[in-house]
Amino acid sequence: MTKPTYAVIPTAGFGTRMLPLSKAVPKELLPLGDKPAIQYVIEEAIASGIKNIVLVNHTQKVAIENYFDINSELDTQLRTKGKDNLADSLNFLPNDVSIVSVRQGKPLGLGHAVLQARSVVGNHHFAVLLPDVVLNPYTTDYQSQNLAFMLDEFSKNEHSQILVEPVANKDIHKYGIARLDGKTKTLEKTEQNQSFAVTGFVEKPKADAAPSNLAVVGRYVFNNAIFEFLQNAKPSVGGEIQLTDAIDALISTQGVNVVTMAGDSFDAGDMTSYMQAFMYFAKQALGKTK
Ligand code: G1P
Repeated sequence: MTKPTYAVIPTAGFGTRMLPLSKAVPKELLPLGDKPAIQYVIEEAIASGIKNIVLVNHTQKVAIENYFDINSELDTQLRTKGKDNLADSLNFLPNDVSIVSVRQGKPLGLGHAVLQARSVVGNHHFAVLLPDVVLNPYTTDYQSQNLAFMLDEFSKNEHSQILVEPVANKDIHKYGIARLDGKTKTLEKTEQNQSFAVTGFVEKPKADAAPSNLAVVGRYVFNNAIFEFLQNAKPSVGGEIQLTDAIDALISTQGVNVVTMAGDSFDAGDMTSYMQAFMYFAKQALGKTK
C-alpha cells in the first residue's frame, strides 16, 4: 500500500490567544527564530514525504498564501543586485510539492475546517497538521520520526494514526485525550513512536474525568473514510464541529491507532508558550550564525 502524500493544514483561526500580535499578522507568520512558525510545519510535512499541501484559510489571512507564492518582482530585484542566494532561499518549495488553499468561510470548528479540504483531497488518504503545534526541529528527525513514522504505519493497514504525548493534569483540559482499552491509563514519556490501538477520544475533559494522560498533539494521518463522518458530524464541545467526534465515529467502523511522540513540541498558538518557543528558536538561530 502506498503512503499518503496529501496534507491538510487548517489556518483559518483568528488566533485570539495571540492578540495583539495576531491582530494584523496571521499567527502562523509570527517568527520563531529566523523563520515564520508555519514554515517549520511545512518543512516537516515535506521532509515526511508530503507532496500536496492544502491550506484551509480565511479571507483575512491571505498573507500566508503570499508567503508560499513566488514574488517575482522581489525575485528580480534581488537577482539584479547579485543577491541570488537570498532569492533562492525564498523559493524553498521543491518542484514536486504544491500548496493550494481553500477557504473556511465560517468558524464552525476544526472538523469543519478539515472537511473544507475534501474537494482537493478527493479519495486520497491524508495527513492533518495543526500549525499551532511546532515540533522541535532540533530534537526531532522530520524524515523518520512522528509524521514520517505515522505515514509508514498507516501504509501497513490503512488504520488512521494520531500523535499523542503525555501531559500534566493541569493541561488536560486544553486537549483531546485518548481512551485506551476503556481503562484509565497513565503513560510516561519514555516509549517514543510506539503505535497502538485507541478506543476513543474525549475533547478537552476536566482532569478528573480524563480517560488517560495522553493528549492529541496536532498531527494526524487519516483514512479517507473520516470525511464521511465529518460530513455528518454535529456541533458539540464549544458549539463546534469537532474532529475528535468524527475520529470516535471512525473508530466504531475501523481500527485507529495512537502514536507516542518523539522529541518535543511547542504551542505557538498560546502567548506564554509562544514566547518560550520564540526565545528557544532565536537562541538556536543565533547559534547557527556565530
Ligand atoms: C485542537 C484539537 C485537540 C488537540 C489540539 C492540539 O484543539 O481539537 O483535540 O489536542 O488541537 O493542539 P485546539 O487547540 O484547536 O482548541
